[in-house]
Amino acid sequence: MRKTIIAGNWKMNKTAEEAQGLVSEIVNIHRDEINNGAEVVIIPPFVHLSGTYSLIKNSDVKLGAQNCSEHESGAYTGEISAGMLVSYNASYVIIGHSERRQYFGETNALLAKKVDIALKHNLTPIYCCGETIEQRNAGEHFNVNETQITEGLFHLNADEMKKVVIAYEPVWAIGTGVTASSAQAQEVHAFIRSTIAKKYGNEVAQSITIQYGGSMKPENAAELLAQPDIDGGLIGGAALKSRDFIEIIKAAR
Ligand code: PGA
Repeated sequence: MRKTIIAGNWKMNKTAEEAQGLVSEIVNIHRDEINNGAEVVIIPPFVHLSGTYSLIKNSDVKLGAQNCSEHESGAYTGEISAGMLVSYNASYVIIGHSERRQYFGETNALLAKKVDIALKHNLTPIYCCGETIEQRNAGEHFNVNETQITEGLFHLNADEMKKVVIAYEPVWAIGTGVTASSAQAQEVHAFIRSTIAKKYGNEVAQSITIQYGGSMKPENAAELLAQPDIDGGLIGGAALKSRDFIEIIKAAR
């Protein structure tokens, strides 16, 4: 059985005090109301990792980071290494979110290096892929996702590949309120899984968690999460409100 993972990507939101309040609410409601086996991950900005961990450490909630450097350590002002993240108790790291690709020029070749360094430090990469609206309208969405997956991940061996989580996030659905329909999302998820199966075989492909991301919210989560190849969600806006985030977790099978 694949793991269902519901992860809240806070992006660049929340002050120290706000972060503490939100994490406390999530942990408390999660403990009292949820027991469905879904793995829950909070992915705050770097500065909140330590404070978040101190509030979740006695719970089942896990910690993630939004990015890491492709370098081990050294003179890279402003960067954060995978080793540092592990030392702050992170278990997951988002690699190649579309905002990093779009605003920070991150390429598949660079992301492949970040995936490697994350795995080396036993951090689970949440590798993001997804097409723009122009690419979808031009019928290029399968190709675009295939290229992102192939160039970012297919240098891994099968054992390494099994440790990766993939997040399909159509760029046109992120932060827009427009969600991919469950059929549109399922179609791409199944395509990604079959692309992995062609390279690594069915056993590896069936073992990999593929999350959906892009305006997932309490109203649409159950239908998306009920699709056979959708194994969780990477949640932006709705992860900033404890009730909405909890309702999405509850919608997981
Ligand atoms: P959204 O963001 O839920 O606000 O659309 C998802 C993401 O970017 O991970």
